[in-house]
Amino acid sequence: MSEIMNTQQITGIVGAGTMGSGIALTAAASGESVIVFDSVDTALQRSDVMIKSTLKQWVEKSKITSEQSDEIFKKVHFTSDLNDLSSCTLVIEAITEQIQIKSDLFKKLEDVVAAETILATNTSSLSITLLASGLKCPGRFLGLHFFNPAHIMPLVEVVSAIQTQTGIAESARRRVETWKKICVNAKDTPGFIVNKVARPYYSEALRIFEENLANIPTIDFVMTTVGGFKMGPFQLMDFIGHDVNFTVTETVWKSFFYDSRYRPSLAQQKLVEAGFLGKKSGRGFYDSQISASTYESQINHTKDLHIMIFNRIFAMLVNEAADTVYRTICSREDLELAVTKGVNYPNGLFEWGEVFGYGKIIDILDTLQERYREERYRVCPLLRDLAKV
Ligand SMILES: NC(=O)c1ccc[n+]([C@@H]2O[C@H](COP(=O)([O-])OP(=O)(O)OC[C@H]3O[C@@H](n4cnc5c(N)ncnc54)[C@H](O)[C@@H]3O)[C@@H](O)[C@H]2O)c1
Repeated sequence: MSEIMNTQQITGIVGAGTMGSGIALTAAASGESVIVFDSVDTALQRSDVMIKSTLKQWVEKSKITSEQSDEIFKKVHFTSDLNDLSSCTLVIEAITEQIQIKSDLFKKLEDVVAAETILATNTSSLSITLLASGLKCPGRFLGLHFFNPAHIMPLVEVVSAIQTQTGIAESARRRVETWKKICVNAKDTPGFIVNKVARPYYSEALRIFEENLANIPTIDFVMTTVGGFKMGPFQLMDFIGHDVNFTVTETVWKSFFYDSRYRPSLAQQKLVEAGFLGKKSGRGFYDSQISASTYESQINHTKDLHIMIFNRIFAMLVNEAADTVYRTICSREDLELAVTKGVNYPNGLFEWGEVFGYGKIIDILDTLQERYREERYRVCPLLRDLAKV
């Protein structure tokens, strides 16, 4: 560890799993020294292998030279001793998504690092404010939410807790921007920006399916061809894994005090109960044994059905975007960046909503609310204001 002690900026990563390894590689590729700590030795070994093999791929694709690859790899140091993080000026935690395990770790970390070290969590769903409340110095704590794979996805949500001191988020943001990341500022609210705004993409699609208004291949076909999304909602849920996707929805729903707009789906819950977790288990909404052409033959090519599917999902997405800005969770500009860089939507939702017509979106939602008499379809006041402009 001694050879890196003189370096000015050292980043500590706690948790050498999927996210920790990707973040470590990102920082090292930008020239920072990184110390990766994990309590499990095999996790450190796996991280070492993952970073080396990614660097090898970069060399093979001529993204970097083999000398650069060696330089980057030299910047990454693995340790099973938490005390080795003492010289870090920023520590990002990426361990198991459990509040008690994370809180215990931050208590130990506070005794190891300097008073001015910024402490960050990469949590996807836990309250930053609650995690901060367990610290002796909660003012230096914030969320830095990277997306998977962290060395490829450009977006980072910079999430301030109510205790986060002025300047800490800005300082962390500047640091992460030197890693060529695109940062957006978010208030500490369930799902932050992306995991909140993206909920209707899954939940409205599930709702259309559960009501038997359209089948799964048709909904996916419409959202990819008419909508231009890279993956249809069911393909995407299968890809993410239903255990993960269902848990995020359930957490957001509970955290917003059971707001019906985020209510999870029974169809998805059944998949989780059955262990049909999607791509990782060979079966989710789709069965990997069944050929794509079989599913293609099930697509219903009725224009009115296509319009209904797209309009419902799209209107709910734009309404969720408006709600997020209306509640001052983030700025409109950051929301557009978050959806295009964090979940690869083809357009920003405000830009798209404006072209489609805010008045038309309001009509779609009002018609749905009239039909279902559910709060789920209530129109955000900001959307009504935008329609008047
Ligand atoms: N995987 C994703 O898509 C994704 C995306 C964004 C954020 N996140 C968040 O990032 C965090 C990590 O997720 P992941 O997918 O990388 O998990 P992972 O299971 O791949 O890795 C977690 C690592 O943490 C280590 N660990 C657990 N407890 C520890 C402790 N007390 N001290 C030190 N090391 C410990 C484990 O050994 C493991 O190597 C979670 O909070 C998750 O919500 C995940």
